[in-house]
Amino acid sequence: MDLAILLRRRSAMVEDPPEAIASDGSANVPLNRQLYEELRQAILSGRLLPQERIPSTRELAKSLGISRTTVTQSYEQLLSEGYLETIIGSGTFVCAQLPDDLLRSTPVNEAEKITRPPIKLSKYGSELAQIDVSLIREPNKTISFRYGRPAFDQFPIKLWRKLLSRHCRSNSNWLDYATDSLGYKHLREAIARYLSRSRAVECSPDQVLITNGTQQALYLVTRLLLDPGEAIALEDPGYLSARRIFLTQGAQLLPVAVDESGLVVKELANYSDQLLKLVYVTPSHQFPTGAILSLPRRLELLAWAQQTGALIIEDDYDSEYRYGDRPIPALQGLDRSDSVLYIGTFSKVLFPSLRIGYLVLPPSLVSLFSRAKWLSDRQLPLLEQQVLTDFIEAGHLERHLRKMRSHYDQCRQVLVQALNTHFGEQVTILGEKAGLHLMVRLHTSLSDEEIVERAARVGVGMMSAQPHYINPRCTGEFIFGYAELTKPQIQEGIHRLAQALMG
Ligand SMILES: Cc1ncc(COP(=O)(O)O)c(C=O)c1O
Repeated sequence: MDLAILLRRRSAMVEDPPEAIASDGSANVPLNRQLYEELRQAILSGRLLPQERIPSTRELAKSLGISRTTVTQSYEQLLSEGYLETIIGSGTFVCAQLPDDLLRSTPVNEAEKITRPPIKLSKYGSELAQIDVSLIREPNKTISFRYGRPAFDQFPIKLWRKLLSRHCRSNSNWLDYATDSLGYKHLREAIARYLSRSRAVECSPDQVLITNGTQQALYLVTRLLLDPGEAIALEDPGYLSARRIFLTQGAQLLPVAVDESGLVVKELANYSDQLLKLVYVTPSHQFPTGAILSLPRRLELLAWAQQTGALIIEDDYDSEYRYGDRPIPALQGLDRSDSVLYIGTFSKVLFPSLRIGYLVLPPSLVSLFSRAKWLSDRQLPLLEQQVLTDFIEAGHLERHLRKMRSHYDQCRQVLVQALNTHFGEQVTILGEKAGLHLMVRLHTSLSDEEIVERAARVGVGMMSAQPHYINPRCTGEFIFGYAELTKPQIQEGIHRLAQALMG
């Protein structure tokens, strides 16, 4: 093929003055670049074939009526990118194997696309593709009672920064791979001691796996202990993110009701014909109802696990915040049969983007989980683990917790009082004096959607409890997060809400 004719056909190069080769508005593009692009497209679309000889720079410059330097610059670029090759004594040729075949770095137009059969996903991939994993929509209003976050403005950021920079300056050992995928040894020791004094959890540091929050702990437990089709019992209503992990593993979900004493343990007997391997619970502050699993129920649950051989996943996500009464020890501390996998997190106590949580494992499972962690993401960043170790060991964590307990307790009281004042008989406040949110039942004929909409109109953000139910219901139940609001904001928010709902 005559290359000059080919190029002429595409962009009428010869008739136009050299600086305006293309008539498509690309006149600002240098001439050598235009020629390079034309040649490259000719090669990619197959108008110039692999191993086809192309004219010398002198021939092409002459037939296009442009300078030889311009052609040489274009050829050199194509040679360096692997579209052309020179064979000494023979000339310049289109390469047999083109870089775009390997890289596909530029968009191809529709006509050039090669259709391939649909990508076949794994069983896990297929389940995941079916399930909505998006965040629950959060209200973005002047006063938002969204839940799930601590009070960021109360976090001792200066102190954290000081600890961070001290570690950055004083050593560089946080740059390396960890020697151990269970997590930074001193942090595991600090967590084991902290859990023993604050939650009566009994464990050695060797049973503590540092995870990327509760989320990764739940993910690893599910991947390693549950096969598709196998059954897991869980609280209804319960934590949506946990449920989604179980669902994507293809697990069979067995909902168990929750009342004012937490999980109704005797309902587990309804599933005695199933091979129930796991049960997921939030005993210290049931999510979202706020019930605390009573001591008799804890003992009943442990006895059931011992009898059936099932394992209990204890998610202790905000147990640090109990106001007034002494906390009930964690299930793990009452367990005598290695039936509990205990999960904790720093997302509520410190901040969620830290992404540090922990999983306390029965000794027999430690090595397996450590392998899985190593294969999934190796380790968590060492610098943050070292800073957190200092934070705990120097007593800052417990100092911060004391301060925050008093702060959140006051916020909670203000919220309860405002709800009682403005709604009176029209509201039932659920749950115990604990946590960073509370659940309420509004006695009204309005739908949840209507309530949310009316609240939004007066600048108040509210979130229904509906998404946390396995069996969807029209609940009239709402979750009020109070950790991110000031006391006047809480009062104002409830006042506006009452006006919007009750006129
Ligand atoms: C029941 C429950 N567990 C755990 C968490 C924390 O998850 P993570 O540690 O992955 O941030 C939350 C967050 O809202 C939660 O509601």
